[in-house]
Amino acid sequence: MLPCVCWLQLLLVLLPCASVHGGENCPASCLCPDPHTVDCSGRGLTRLPDAIPLDVRRLLLSDNWIPRIPADFLVLYSDLVYLDLRNNSLSRIEPGTLSPSSRLVFLDLGSNNLTEIPKGTFGESRSLIKLRLGNNPHLSRVNEDAFLGLTSLRELELERNALSGLKVGALSQLPSLRVVRLEGNPWICNCNFANLFAWLMANRHKLPNGVEGMECSLPTDGRRVALSQLSQDSFRECQASLTLTDFLIIIFSGISVSVAAIMASFFLASTVHCFQRWSKGVKGDEEENEE
Ligand SMILES: *[C@@H]1O[C@H](CO)[C@@H](O)[C@H](O)[C@H]1NC(C)=O
Ligand SMILES: *[C@@H]1O[C@H](CO)[C@@H](O)[C@H](O)[C@H]1NC(C)=O
Repeated sequence: MLPCVCWLQLLLVLLPCASVHGGENCPASCLCPDPHTVDCSGRGLTRLPDAIPLDVRRLLLSDNWIPRIPADFLVLYSDLVYLDLRNNSLSRIEPGTLSPSSRLVFLDLGSNNLTEIPKGTFGESRSLIKLRLGNNPHLSRVNEDAFLGLTSLRELELERNALSGLKVGALSQLPSLRVVRLEGNPWICNCNFANLFAWLMANRHKLPNGVEGMECSLPTDGRRVALSQLSQDSFRECQASLTLTDFLIIIFSGISVSVAAIMASFFLASTVHCFQRWSKGVKGDEEENEE
């Protein structure tokens, strides 16, 4: 009889613990299939659910109507490794949301309403390996330093956005980049595109389908051409104009250097002159004193 009572007591003590991750600590209308996963996808949410357990590692929020993530979200949920916000209504990522110390490895912001990725949006987060930003139909501007400091980033998706151009620095600054998706954007193959084109040619192994299926419109008549039909030669005119500016810069800097040199020698000459006069004066004074 006695052992039985003990067991019962033990069970009563353990029960609340067992139920912590079983459901009580799971946000209403979400599922928590394991102690570190919270799955709230496709629940018609218009904001982040309340009472997400603080030790959550995988948070699935796709297919909702969430318009905003507070800047301190990843400070609060500092164990978060996997964050899926695909197909929501996000129009921006608050600066400071990610930081070099955040643990996030996977971030899916695809199929949202982002319009711009400003400098340092992802806060030099060194853990981030995969970043999905595709299918944001109004995303037309990605800053050259948008992905600054993402030293571990291996996969970057920017497909089917509204990009007509992209500074090549945005991609070339990523030392671990293995896969980049850029197809389905309305690229314009003007002179600004020449650098990106050269990068794509040198890094086509990083594009899942090479440059196949990538198109750009000609700046002259808007005609769309496949990138595979273009070559560096197609941008030869841009190089000519580039060398012309370079030429002007060289001439201009040549003139500036000469002017600076003339001014410096003039200054030096007058200093020497002054000094000579001054030392003469001193000598004169000394001679006068001696007399
Ligand atoms: C996006 O989410 C909405 C709302 O849950 C859903 O109706 C729609 O099917 C989803 N779209 C895709 C492409 O999954
Ligand atoms: C998405 O952003 C565009 C441009 O900022 C805006 O006109 C549109 O209403 C937004 N759509 C949604 C669903 O929020």
